[in-house]
Amino acid sequence: MQLAGITIKSPFVAAPMAGVSSPPFRLLSARAGAGLVYTEMVSAQGLLRRQPQTVAMARVLPEERPVALQLFGQEPEAMAKAARQVAAMPVDLVDVNMGCPARKVRRQGAGSALLDEPARAAEILRAVVENCPQPVTVKVRLGYQRETLDEVLPGLIAAGASAVCLHARTVAQGFGGRADWSAIARLKSWCPLPVIGNGDVRSARDALAMLAETGCDAVMIGRAAMGDPWIFSRARDLLAGRPARSVSLRQRRAALWEHAELARRLSGEGGAVHFMRQFMMWYAKGLPGATEFRRLAGPVRDLDLLLRLAGEFFDALEQAA
Ligand SMILES: Cc1cc2nc3c(=O)[nH]c(=O)nc-3n(C[C@H](O)[C@H](O)[C@H](O)COP(=O)(O)O)c2cc1C
Repeated sequence: MQLAGITIKSPFVAAPMAGVSSPPFRLLSARAGAGLVYTEMVSAQGLLRRQPQTVAMARVLPEERPVALQLFGQEPEAMAKAARQVAAMPVDLVDVNMGCPARKVRRQGAGSALLDEPARAAEILRAVVENCPQPVTVKVRLGYQRETLDEVLPGLIAAGASAVCLHARTVAQGFGGRADWSAIARLKSWCPLPVIGNGDVRSARDALAMLAETGCDAVMIGRAAMGDPWIFSRARDLLAGRPARSVSLRQRRAALWEHAELARRLSGEGGAVHFMRQFMMWYAKGLPGATEFRRLAGPVRDLDLLLRLAGEFFDALEQAA
């Protein structure tokens, strides 16, 4: 199917998540069937200053494509310059973050602060559109405290946005309360752009329900894909009218290992340990003995030791099976 001018193999896409959507997460999601994966939000200023951490966040692997690189920033000029850098990168879409509720980001006038300033939001979007050849999309929330999409989106559409992703919560809601899927349906009823629905898809069934209930063009899945990239293959199975495939212990174990080794290769030992501890917990979630595994792995600062503990955890499960 086509979305925002690119071809994607399924309407289920992996969300941008800071500290989570690194190349291993994106690669495993893509392989499991995500039609599109997003980088975590990348600071335009950080790119311009060539901050090593930011440059690393913008790195993509050929196997994970199609991939969207998400930029955030507050100044049209800086966003234009960052877009010129991204133009030369092997990314398929450029997404502009206009939904981040974090105080640190809002204080700079970036992320969801742009929803309060439709003129500047449009100027930023235009700056990105005019400075990179890739289609440019935007990720928004409903508004600060109420739904104000009709105030901000017309300017973004006129500035050349190719699609809009709506996380159907207000900024004030943070991650609390429920995402209002009816707002996705309302947006779809008037917005001429493809709409990617997002918020509270917790299962493959939810992903299909969002497609059916809102009429959105694609569904973005975030937290439910942490440690469960197979949610994308299950959603594709259900969409094709097949029973959803289950995930074997062997597959989970192999994914965890691949994730860890890729993280080690790309981020070095220190970086990999830092976030693999969290990912291992997610891969173990729901399995018998996961709480004990979490207790043992929590204080560990060495990747090989973490992998040994994970190996013992999976050995015990396989023997019991
Ligand atoms: C840990 C974490 C980090 C996130 N980082 C980003 C980000 O960098 N950019 C962004 O647009 N949204 C970010 N989000 C929001 C998600 O992309 C998504 O909109 C939100 O989690 C709702 O979807 P879900 O219910 O499927 O998780 C983040 C969410 C989480 C939980």
